[in-house]
Amino acid sequence: MIKAVCLKGSFDPITNQHIELAKKFLKNKKFQIVFFRVDEKGIASYKDRVEMVKLAIKPYRKMKLLCDCKFNKDEIQIIPIEENDEKLVREGHFNKTCNSVNFYLNNHILYLDQIVDAWCIEKRAAHVRSMTKLAKELAVIHHVDEKKAEQAGMLHDLCKNMEEEAAKQIMKFFYPQYISLSPKIWHQFTAEYVLKHIMRLRDKKVINAVRHHVLGDHKGNLSRIIFIADKIDPGRGYNIDDQLAIAKRSLKEGAIDVKSNQQKFLKGEKV
Ligand SMILES: [Fe+2]
Ligand SMILES: [Fe+2]
Repeated sequence: MIKAVCLKGSFDPITNQHIELAKKFLKNKKFQIVFFRVDEKGIASYKDRVEMVKLAIKPYRKMKLLCDCKFNKDEIQIIPIEENDEKLVREGHFNKTCNSVNFYLNNHILYLDQIVDAWCIEKRAAHVRSMTKLAKELAVIHHVDEKKAEQAGMLHDLCKNMEEEAAKQIMKFFYPQYISLSPKIWHQFTAEYVLKHIMRLRDKKVINAVRHHVLGDHKGNLSRIIFIADKIDPGRGYNIDDQLAIAKRSLKEGAIDVKSNQQKFLKGEKV
């Protein structure tokens, strides 16, 4: 006799939809419990996916991992589940998961590649990866958290390719005091909006580094690294040896040096 149901899937990652589905099964009194079985294959590691399932089901005493099952096989109905919101979450819509999973995703900086590829055109994604590599090198030299440099670097141009009208709406409602700035600058604000409200990132250093990466008006070391690495990205194709040498010696001096060249791109060249 069937006593429990087992949702089987990659849970890459678990989403609110999975929990809602489990709740529906529990409403049916035929099932005493809903188990979750995580498939071996996925984009995130098996360990990460299991940890996230554990976090998501923790508030529900009738939801458990299959490895904790005490039923016989013939008492469990296995239901393969389709990808629903998983792809959306992998592309940065972390708000489609519960808070604890959200926190885990940001803390373990999962799915960065998928996020960049979903939000950036190919050329932009190449720049993002190239400057992130440089940002990580500078972070190591200056004893700044390398993982945060990676996260801020990969996310800094998230909204660079956003439609101007969509960006304008965000600026109008959330950053009205900056809407008169050039639309080329807006993407540092719209990216902050996405980080806070869609990815629900809470790390102030990473948020500041992204929010100030165009104007370079934040004095934190991580912010300076992202500002410098963005502007002297080796992928931009000009000689960066002198600027890089200054940045390796001092982030403060490096930022001042980069800033002194900034008027050029504010007047219409690439940011
Ligand atoms: Fe940018
Ligand atoms: Fe950039």
